[in-house]
Amino acid sequence: MDDHNNYVSWKSRWTFIMAATGSAVGLGNIWKFPYITGEYGGGAFVMFYLICILAVGVPVMIAEIMLGRRARTDPIDGMMKVARESGRSANWGVVGIVGVLAGMMILMFYSVVAGWALDYIYQSITGAYAGANHLAIKNDFGALTNNAPRQLLWHTLFIFMTGVVVAGGVTRGIGTAVETMMPLLFLLLLILLGYSLATGDFAGGMHFLFYFDPSKLTADGMLVGLGHAFFTLSLGMGAIMAYGSYMPASGSVAKTVVAVAFLDTLIALMAGMTIFPLIFANHMTPEQGPGLLFVSLPIAFASMPGGQLVGTIFFVLVTIAALSSSISLIEPGVAWLEKQGVRRIWGTVMLGGAGWLGGIACINHHAVFDMLDAATTNIMLPTGGLLIAVFTGWRMRRAIVREEIDDLPPWLFNLWYAVTRLVAPAGIALVFLNSIGVL
Ligand code: TRP
Repeated sequence: MDDHNNYVSWKSRWTFIMAATGSAVGLGNIWKFPYITGEYGGGAFVMFYLICILAVGVPVMIAEIMLGRRARTDPIDGMMKVARESGRSANWGVVGIVGVLAGMMILMFYSVVAGWALDYIYQSITGAYAGANHLAIKNDFGALTNNAPRQLLWHTLFIFMTGVVVAGGVTRGIGTAVETMMPLLFLLLLILLGYSLATGDFAGGMHFLFYFDPSKLTADGMLVGLGHAFFTLSLGMGAIMAYGSYMPASGSVAKTVVAVAFLDTLIALMAGMTIFPLIFANHMTPEQGPGLLFVSLPIAFASMPGGQLVGTIFFVLVTIAALSSSISLIEPGVAWLEKQGVRRIWGTVMLGGAGWLGGIACINHHAVFDMLDAATTNIMLPTGGLLIAVFTGWRMRRAIVREEIDDLPPWLFNLWYAVTRLVAPAGIALVFLNSIGVL
């Protein structure tokens, strides 16, 4: 296997786990998960989302990393390569192309939200919300989202930060950063959870998050829940495939995936258990929309001892979580351009520039923001995941798949294989059909 020998590689399996976790854990967990749970009614939505993580997310993630590691190159060339190896059409490269586009589209709104986090670092340091009442805090979030220059400043800074890391090469820079920052984020979330437990309406929050009332689960909610399972695990667009292409050949794909999915889910649930008790204790409703995080936590910080400091650290960590995710949104495209002979720095400038322009459109037209979010999360990612599962389960030679996933005992391999062939594609298809009213 000659061409398996010279590839860029993570320092160790641990670095790979941290990089994949860094990509997975981001605004999706801390910002998006709580607010869509609020909008789609709580417990039943959470339950459906958890089922999607287990039945679709985990198996597809195993498939994506496996494909990346087999191909040892960017997702576009990689899909073509693994398809040819199994005697299939190179047209499978389209999965990579659509993935690169989806990553760019996500970056456009993602960077705007990360910019909000940067703004809240500034607000925390200057004490903008210290001692303020909850109405004032709520209004200030509205003021931010209607102030284009203020958002543009932070959005530009965030794109720049993303570009610096990607231009420097992923393996060293981000690898080391996430190794220390992710544990810190976890610790801080734990402290905030404790605060919420002590001062918030914890029972109310838990009831909202975990009380299973199936009548609240709508077809729309299911589509959003499935889409979010892809979004939060960074699946369906080749990000994890690109990361997998740098994975040491010896590591266990399945064990790695279980670790990443577990950490990602844990952090999302912790964020939810922190935010909702604070919302209920302050007599607000859970359907606050995208402002949920940026309203509920400042309310807590405003009245908590040392809140200014805690708030500052918290939003710094949210920014870092966002950064360790955003780099994986352009890495597949940059890796592809590099393969075509474009130097990494110029590839980063081109794709970062496109993301920057798209972000400006999001800032000025909230409808563009919403459209990019819905089109990528609810349609492009699940479709990408569907194609990845179908390719792995039906088009790739089984012997090759088995060679890559060689550490699982036969029964577990067969279980994963069957889920990838049948359960995951059927599940995605059913949710799609349901959402357009066919079922
Ligand atoms: N998973 C990240 C989050 O939850 C977002 C993200 C990073 C992503 N890379 C991705 C989503 C690739 C989809 C595809 O914040």
